Amino acid sequence: MKLTYYGHSCFLLETSDCSLLFDPMISANELAADIDITAIKPDYILLSHGHFDHLHDAESIAKQAGSTIIANYEIAEWYKAKGINVHHMNIGGKWKFSFGTVKMVNAVHSSVLPDGTYGGAPGGFVVSMTEGTFYFAGDTALTIDMQLIPMTCPDLKFAILPVGDDLTMGVDDALKAAEMIKCSEIVACHFDTFGYIKLDHDGCKQTFAASGRNIQIPVIGQSIIF
Ligand code: NI
Ligand code: MN
Repeated sequence: MKLTYYGHSCFLLETSDCSLLFDPMISANELAADIDITAIKPDYILLSHGHFDHLHDAESIAKQAGSTIIANYEIAEWYKAKGINVHHMNIGGKWKFSFGTVKMVNAVHSSVLPDGTYGGAPGGFVVSMTEGTFYFAGDTALTIDMQLIPMTCPDLKFAILPVGDDLTMGVDDALKAAEMIKCSEIVACHFDTFGYIKLDHDGCKQTFAASGRNIQIPVIGQSIIF
């Protein structure tokens, strides 16, 4: 599995036969100015919740690539009305797609679409494929519900967790989340984009290293092979 970071909470996950884009907000992120969104052609776009910093480019990428959007019911209906293919899910549900199984799990956050439409409940995704299982947490607080993930989706190969604090978990809570989900390979997201989520990169790495867990703080454009 190849994971490429496009800034903020946006990642492209590619295998030999599918590509999944998570929470695209690229063209509105000045830190990601070097990323050409017209070159991104995912099969599916997974949206964790309705905030603009997670779906700003979803419509344009879905239309250029013919992607299917996977999101909660409210967000999926909003995109369906724009003529985009959608698959709606909700918290606790799972669905077997051609590329593997997606389970939508709880996130403790809020969700409203850019035009003020109710955005349903925020969520995260656990994706299981033949190449491995991973967890994309979305925007969330640390929540005891994370303990449910390894009960039903064990052996996470890696997890993408927010670490920027203020709007989501910070580093200390992300470490507790890593313990709850029983995962020692963490990829950080939701940091540095705005002034109030600036991350102390060295402090973050030291906090994780001190507990024997690895956190990668990706550079925009960087790919990680899992
Ligand atoms: Ni949010
Ligand atoms: Mn956010």
